[in-house]
Amino acid sequence: MTTDGSTQHLLLVDDEAGFRDAIADRLTDMGFVVTQAGTGEEALERLGDFAFDIIITDLRLPGISGREVLDDALARYPDIIAIVITGFGTVREAVEITRLGAEGFITKPFQFEELAHEINAAIEKRRLKAENAYLRAQLHDRFGIDGIVGRTKVMMDLFELLRTVAATTSTVLITGETGTGKELAARAIHDASPRRAQRFVAINCSAIPETLLEAELFGHVRGAFTGAVANRIGRIEQAHRGTLFLDEVGTMSPALQAKLLRVLQTREFERVGDSQPVRADVRVIAATNSDLKKMVEEGTFREDLYYRLNVIPVRLPPLRERRADIPLLAQHFLDRLAGQNPERGRVTLSQDAQQLLMAFDWPGNVRQLENVIERAYTLSPGRTQITAADLPDEVRQTGAILNPDEIVFPEHGIEMERLVNDFEYALIRRALERTGGNKRMAAELLHVKRTTLIEKLKRFERVT
Ligand SMILES: Nc1ncnc2c1ncn2[C@@H]1O[C@H](COP(=O)(O)OP(=O)(O)OP(=O)(O)O)[C@@H](O)[C@H]1O
Ligand SMILES: [Mg+2]
Repeated sequence: MTTDGSTQHLLLVDDEAGFRDAIADRLTDMGFVVTQAGTGEEALERLGDFAFDIIITDLRLPGISGREVLDDALARYPDIIAIVITGFGTVREAVEITRLGAEGFITKPFQFEELAHEINAAIEKRRLKAENAYLRAQLHDRFGIDGIVGRTKVMMDLFELLRTVAATTSTVLITGETGTGKELAARAIHDASPRRAQRFVAINCSAIPETLLEAELFGHVRGAFTGAVANRIGRIEQAHRGTLFLDEVGTMSPALQAKLLRVLQTREFERVGDSQPVRADVRVIAATNSDLKKMVEEGTFREDLYYRLNVIPVRLPPLRERRADIPLLAQHFLDRLAGQNPERGRVTLSQDAQQLLMAFDWPGNVRQLENVIERAYTLSPGRTQITAADLPDEVRQTGAILNPDEIVFPEHGIEMERLVNDFEYALIRRALERTGGNKRMAAELLHVKRTTLIEKLKRFERVT
């Protein structure tokens, strides 16, 4: 049996008939369908009339060489698993062979088990690769950009923007409240950009003391300051040809702002303690949850730097502006937890829990939702459904607002219009559920005109 259970067709090329027969027998025992070829010419012929999954070939053949056979096989079937048998097994030859596209090589004489291992490992590698490609494609279909969940209009527009921006090297300024996914968006841009194979280097400007931040960003030479015992390259240089993510850029000191401005203008800077200018090719993405424009007006953030950073503004909407994504996000986090705890199985949300989550204002945005879901999941061991009772008080309180007698006005007040709208929407949805989606009957049930119901639905669903 082969690793993944499907039949695999294998072409075995070797000029020693006895050796070839012996190997072919063992491979047949393993479950492969084996075709043999004694010469390069014969191998090419076989390759011409069948798409083999695997080719195993000796390098030294009379006439057409193993290398030519290999070239032909890989050109015809780029996904074929190629394993080379060589009598000389030098490192140089091995490297060359793998560069040609062969999966691996094996040196004569060898134990059959070595060959079997080589084949199985290659098959497994292929399977994982195919699986990953499939999962990635699925993620793309479902979520637009890897790992960012959202189906509302604002998020669709955001994905579009991220994709467009990814193709450029322009500087991007990502703004948004805490927990809205700014870092996720920055990574998504990098991952979708031509720089994806290079590094994504993140630095949180607010997490590093001012004095260290400069050396961290620009690097330093030995003896530049106490403790600088060796030369060290900074984050900017680490991100050469890749992406530099400057998180919380609003917290930078005026002196550093000036130095950063120069990097953005010239891509040139000096390591701390050195006068030699260094150049780095970096794509800069900055993020902030403070109002940089206001900081410019107040004189705490350089105006010229602001414009240099804000070439392409990307705003991440707070969760309360895209409530329709809440159930989707919640389920996404639950599914991720299920992946980590396969023995518990898939966990879903009850209808009332979903409604509460959608009604809550989420000051901490997606991160807060993620935490609430994780907490509810942990505190409901063994169950396959999370209900309203599993949610924290602050979230449950929102639901009580639907009953005006139970309103406790929070300090910041409530948004009456939105609450009334949500209530209306909830009623319409319930009515539609009752009537199996029939709008005329639902309108009758609610004593409104059918056109009124349709118009309201359209208004609500504009955000979905
Ligand atoms: N649209 C989304 N889909 C899936 N997960 C998300 C989404 N948005 C945010 N998250 C998750 O929420 C958490 C917070 O996201 P992230 O760290 O990117 O936010 P942030 O805006 O940088 O927050 P802060 O301002 O606090 O630094 C992360 O765990 C992230 O994976
Ligand atoms: Mg962040």
